[in-house]
Amino acid sequence: MQPREVAAAPQPVTLRPAREGDAELLAFWRQEPSVGRYQPLGPVTLPRLRAELAGNNHRDLFRGRGEKFQWIVEHRGQPAGWITLVPTNWEHGLAEIGYALSTPFQRRGIAPLALRRLLAEVFGRTSLERIEARCAVANVGSRKVLEAIGFRREGLLRGYFVLRGRRVDNYLYAILRGDFVAGP
Ligand SMILES: CC(C)(COP(=O)(O)OP(=O)(O)OC[C@H]1O[C@@H](n2cnc3c(N)ncnc32)[C@H](O)[C@@H]1OP(=O)(O)O)[C@@H](O)C(=O)NCCC(=O)NCCS
Repeated sequence: MQPREVAAAPQPVTLRPAREGDAELLAFWRQEPSVGRYQPLGPVTLPRLRAELAGNNHRDLFRGRGEKFQWIVEHRGQPAGWITLVPTNWEHGLAEIGYALSTPFQRRGIAPLALRRLLAEVFGRTSLERIEARCAVANVGSRKVLEAIGFRREGLLRGYFVLRGRRVDNYLYAILRGDFVAGP
């Protein structure tokens, strides 16, 4: 008897480069209270968001140039949040990462999957060697996600930003190419 072919299950979490038409979505997500609870997301106009996304040329990432890249995280085909990667120094292979999920998609294990997928791409196909992330000390969910995927806590950034009128301490995390273990 021939073994039955089993169709591969669709990946629940996928990433796609953000495009100009995602500006409204990003503007909507940015004003959600849970998204801004631990990070100051200042007001950005739609034209500015559109312009920023229009300049999001992902081919540059793989050619070792460019200043900012954004992806939309999708959960079962639905837009769920976004990830931003900012290379701060191409010569030394440094970049910073930021991420957020819209409220209904939080606490469902989506961010670790999405970030792992992105890091696999970044460490597999670009010359970036060290990715940093910062998060408010009180942002327990974000800290757990970073630690689960192999980021190491390297320090405390005192009074790092102003959130609702108060200076807030952040932790600095980083992952090096050699720390990264591709997960599910
Ligand atoms: C923080 C965030 C990225 C976490 O991603 P997520 O996909 O929701 O996280 P997970 O569902 O994988 O949860 C990871 C762990 O954190 C915990 N957690 C998640 N959100 C939490 C919260 N708000 N408070 C306390 N713990 C939380 C989960 O219970 C889980 O714990 P466990 O590993 O012990 O079971 C997401 O909630 C989010 O986008 N929040 C708003 C924006 C933001 O804070 N971005 C990060 C800025 S640095």
